[in-house]
Amino acid sequence: MIVPVKYEDDRLLILDQSLLPGEERYIEIQTKEAIWSAIKKLQVRGAPAIGVAAAYGLYVSVRDRNSSSFHEFAEDFKEIKSYIATARPTAVNLFWALERMEKKLFSMEEGLCFEPSWNQELAYIKEELLKEADAIRLEDENACLAMGKYGLSLLKKGMGILTHCNAGTLATAKYGTCLAPVYLGQQQGYGFKVFADETRPLLQGARLTSWELSKEGVDVTLICDNMASSVMKKGWIDAVVVGCDRMAANGDGANKIGTSGVAILAKEYGIPFYMFVPTSTIDLKTPSGADIVIEERKGEEICEMWYERPMAPAGIKTYNPSFDVTDHQYITAIVTEKGIVYPPFAENLPKLFL
Ligand code: MRU
Repeated sequence: MIVPVKYEDDRLLILDQSLLPGEERYIEIQTKEAIWSAIKKLQVRGAPAIGVAAAYGLYVSVRDRNSSSFHEFAEDFKEIKSYIATARPTAVNLFWALERMEKKLFSMEEGLCFEPSWNQELAYIKEELLKEADAIRLEDENACLAMGKYGLSLLKKGMGILTHCNAGTLATAKYGTCLAPVYLGQQQGYGFKVFADETRPLLQGARLTSWELSKEGVDVTLICDNMASSVMKKGWIDAVVVGCDRMAANGDGANKIGTSGVAILAKEYGIPFYMFVPTSTIDLKTPSGADIVIEERKGEEICEMWYERPMAPAGIKTYNPSFDVTDHQYITAIVTEKGIVYPPFAENLPKLFL
């Protein structure tokens, strides 16, 4: 199965998702500017994958620094960390992973003995930072496997499953969040029929979800976003599964623009709506969805991108929010790597962190 972020032979490699499905090409990231731009341009995207890439990106940006003291190294580190954090505002995994790297750095300050030499200490610090990035990647892979198992327990053989955006292997360290049970079911002969919303304007459903699922032999049908209601009404959909970029303490979940509409439709048609949310995506410090910063992107993504020629009058006013918030009342259950959480979410989500 393809992985979006790899660290091999001292090289940070990112699968350039902006080229998919036409071309499968990894790019090497060596600087803070390169990781910032890869995140901003969605060459690496999806909340958990952004977190993993940012952790490695921070490491590669500091690995060649020759600082003369812990203090100097830490100052450089913090400046680079703050810079990478500005790449995108919504997915909390970006900040979560960067914070975790910083915590790791400062956890080493006490233990340093500055012997036999600071240079050796510095080499040790860098090694430990790389190990932390590896741990973030591995933990996410394991979280996805666990969500796959929990998620599969909610599904039955032969079900029709609708998904929005891409919360598959491309969006995580491996396996995906909401697509992990689909892959697991595929191995166990569940015969799911997946419907992938194309996901305007950046087409993550068309370019990425339908690509990765069909590559693994899953029965996937691509539909336009405005066809979701129609396939639900026909009775083709038994469950909706989606990912999440940031979940607030009350269970409101920000995910790709269009998700909240799908959730409202699912409720209308009596279809369960499952949001897959690793604990790294749950932000208890954010009280509700109203407090989540929603990224706004350029209007040209609506008017021009992916078209052969502009599809709107030149200079037309646009509004292009990249995410929306699904109100917790539309979410049937939240699948995490620690188990399935049911309402009341405000009461049950904090229990995951006890
Ligand atoms: O703008 P993107 O492509 O980064 O948005 C991705 C999504 O909204 C995903 O559904 C979300 O990050 C969950 S990924 C497991």
